[in-house]
Amino acid sequence: MERKFTIRRFRPEDLNQVMYINQVCLPENYSTYFFIDLYTNFPETFIVAEEDNKVVGYIMCRIESGFSGFSLMKRGHVISIAVLPGYRRKGIGEALLREALQAMVNYYGVKECYLEVRVSNSPAINLYKKIGFKIERTIRGYYADGENAYLMRIKIPQELMGA
Ligand code: ACO
Ligand code: ZN
Repeated sequence: MERKFTIRRFRPEDLNQVMYINQVCLPENYSTYFFIDLYTNFPETFIVAEEDNKVVGYIMCRIESGFSGFSLMKRGHVISIAVLPGYRRKGIGEALLREALQAMVNYYGVKECYLEVRVSNSPAINLYKKIGFKIERTIRGYYADGENAYLMRIKIPQELMGA
């Protein structure tokens, strides 16, 4: 199928629309400072999708360091991804996530990526599984309303599935 959307890096002038999408799509919302801080520190993994001359989706990530056995390793952490309701199920979420994972490897030397997702959020869980993430464990009461999270992880680029 022909793609009608384009994928590009976030720019500061996208901030209001990205914050709007975040508020429409998710109960976890953040301050202006939080978005700009992620962009300032990790600009290559803050990505948006454009269609109909407007931003309709975003992904933002953090790069973290942690020990894996005895060696220090860089990990990507997907903080938030969302696509406006009218633009879902057209491959935008998948394209955003693949672009972010590629940038994690290319620009930040990341070896694996993880995220948390509500156990009830099957659209998102299916997206992550399609790309190659696996459920590692359940984090009880992770969300403010008490819902549990799955911690999902992927080794990149080794476990990235499909094209
Ligand atoms: N039901 C079942 N599977 C789904 C669904 C759904 N409604 N939506 C997506 N998927 C899975 C499918 O496997 C799909 O592949 P397919 O179309 O070949 O079957 C795959 O995900 C890719 O779908 P996309 O079209 O690329 O995903 P979309 O652009 O619709 O975005 C997203 C998915 C971001 C999860 C969207 O539904 C959304 O914005 N949801 C609300 C916000 C949200 O829950 N964000 C994730 C929170 S967790 C976190 O941010 C770390
Ligand atoms: Zn997280």
